[in-house]
Amino acid sequence: MKNKLDTIKETFKNDFANADNLNKVKKLEIQYLGKKSELYLFSRSIGSIKDIEEKKIIGKEINILKTEIKNLLKEKSIQYDKQDIKNSIKHDFDITYPVFPKNNGSIHPVKMIQQQLETIFTGMGFSIVNGPEMETDYYNFQALNIPEHHPARDTQDTFWLDNDMLLRTQTSNCQVRAMEKFGAPLKIIAPGKCFRYESMDASHETSFYQMEGLLIDRNISIRHLIGTMKVLLKEIFERDVDIRLRPGYFPFVEPGFELDIKCLICGGKGCKTCKNSGYLELLPCGMVHPNVFKMSKIDPDLYNGFAFGLGLTRLAMMKFNIHDIRYFNSGDLRFLKQFR
Ligand code: DAH
Repeated sequence: MKNKLDTIKETFKNDFANADNLNKVKKLEIQYLGKKSELYLFSRSIGSIKDIEEKKIIGKEINILKTEIKNLLKEKSIQYDKQDIKNSIKHDFDITYPVFPKNNGSIHPVKMIQQQLETIFTGMGFSIVNGPEMETDYYNFQALNIPEHHPARDTQDTFWLDNDMLLRTQTSNCQVRAMEKFGAPLKIIAPGKCFRYESMDASHETSFYQMEGLLIDRNISIRHLIGTMKVLLKEIFERDVDIRLRPGYFPFVEPGFELDIKCLICGGKGCKTCKNSGYLELLPCGMVHPNVFKMSKIDPDLYNGFAFGLGLTRLAMMKFNIHDIRYFNSGDLRFLKQFR
């Protein structure tokens, strides 16, 4: 009887030494402790032993061996379990690696301003529309009351293309397209890229962003225009901003204005940023010219409205205190990373 236990012990010792992974350990558990194991069957068979003392001793030894095997297998399976977890971590991912890739992108500062404005204007019931960057002379100029040979064209140096089209010099083309498509009444904004053929310096770029706005309804007055602009500026600069209106000439509005804001840097006293004038030119705007309405098949006797052309790039420069427009398109990560 005792021999039997010794052989089980011996074979287990061998098998145990060879069990070099979790799977093998689990198999040994069944093989040595399961219902069909030699040890189990043996323990069932000792009932037939007549000598009570002998039965007791053997029974005890069986239990000791069982516990010994159980403990050894448990210990080893815990060890392999840990190893397995470690291995899977090593293969699948490295827990010491930063959660976000180091060079994660971020929203461009101009886009940030654009999104902020979109939220403000959609909150006031405006819809967002857009138009093509490659445009016809008609939508970029003629339909905005700027016929061929009009001197106003000279203020917008234009990239002309081989196919007789042009790169839009202003987002005002979207006014015309929206009026044609939706008619009156109308409340839209149109953010987008514009292009001008000019030499670059700290305040001039060949491509930049504008946001056009147009509101058409009955009995619209300059007060609506000023009110809307004030809300917009307050939201953007997060404080009340003093404004002033000067006459400005744009063929598609009458009267036309230049809306200036009191310099946010010096508070109106005069500084380098505002060129000592105390004000910053920011928002050209005006009441839509009847000719523009007529060309887009809207009756100027029934409807009127206001329009504005906000320099998005310009606004971003003011908001973030950026002194050179060329940073925006430079792709310089040192610049872009500041806006994360
Ligand atoms: N499109 C003009 C420009 O780029 C800006 C402008 C002025 C837009 C007055 C308007 C406006 O809608 O009413 O110079």
